[in-house]
Amino acid sequence: MSKNYIDLIDKNNIPAHVAVIMDGNGRWAKKRNMPRLYGHRQAMETVRLIVESCVDLGIKYLTLYAFSTENWRRPKDEVDGLMKLMTEYFIKEIDKLYKKGVKVRILGDIDNLPGSAKSCAVDAMERTKDNNILNMNVAINYGGRADILNSCKQIIQKVNSNELLIEDINEDIISEHLYTKDIPDPDLMIRTGGEKRLSNFLIWQLSYAELWFTDVYWPDFTKETLCNAIYDYQNRDRRYGGLNQ
Ligand code: IPE
Ligand code: IPE
Ligand code: MG
Repeated sequence: MSKNYIDLIDKNNIPAHVAVIMDGNGRWAKKRNMPRLYGHRQAMETVRLIVESCVDLGIKYLTLYAFSTENWRRPKDEVDGLMKLMTEYFIKEIDKLYKKGVKVRILGDIDNLPGSAKSCAVDAMERTKDNNILNMNVAINYGGRADILNSCKQIIQKVNSNELLIEDINEDIISEHLYTKDIPDPDLMIRTGGEKRLSNFLIWQLSYAELWFTDVYWPDFTKETLCNAIYDYQNRDRRYGGLNQ
């Protein structure tokens, strides 16, 4: 009999921050002889379910990789469809998210999104800004390298205007200028869809995260799969370069 991870996990040792690369939507659809966008639409259902599961489990931060700076390379139809779906998601879900106490934050350069996607994302952030049950960060037009590059540029500007001394630049200063300012680094990073790479996701912030990979496609991901990842996380030894007794 397979394990019931929902009951097996230690409710007192839940990771504070779970980051997810939601991959495999296209292949999930292909397996069903359906267009890729059908997979992306189903992915929204999984997001709904996982947000609820995170609230239930007491996870404080959930970061979802929705669209990377590299995803612009996809055919225009798919990019347009993804933008529409994200807009639709925020319009449809915002009331529910608000009522659940979810605080939405977008990570990434939203200025270059189509107008409707940008305004829905901004509205979602504004509407939920005082919530504090679950911090839901959605990485849209996000790239880890772009994140670090932006941070460097802002810091250089501060040095040039004498707001900051070069000697005072440290790792915390770099972190404070990333899109994830004020968000603790992820404890657990989950990637669905079978690939074992970061694809430019939170490359600075994931330095000491536990990485968990599954072949399950994102549209098939459930609370049980999430708890399986948490269970494995709870059985790992996080040494941070030191030695645990
Ligand atoms: C992840 O699913 C969603 C995005 C990158 C937007 P994919 O669209 O990458 O699905 P696969 O990897 O092709 O199956
Ligand atoms: C990563 O998935 C990006 C998102 C899930 C948003 P990709 O499907 O774009 O990654 P690669 O191309 O397989 O590395
Ligand atoms: Mg993919």
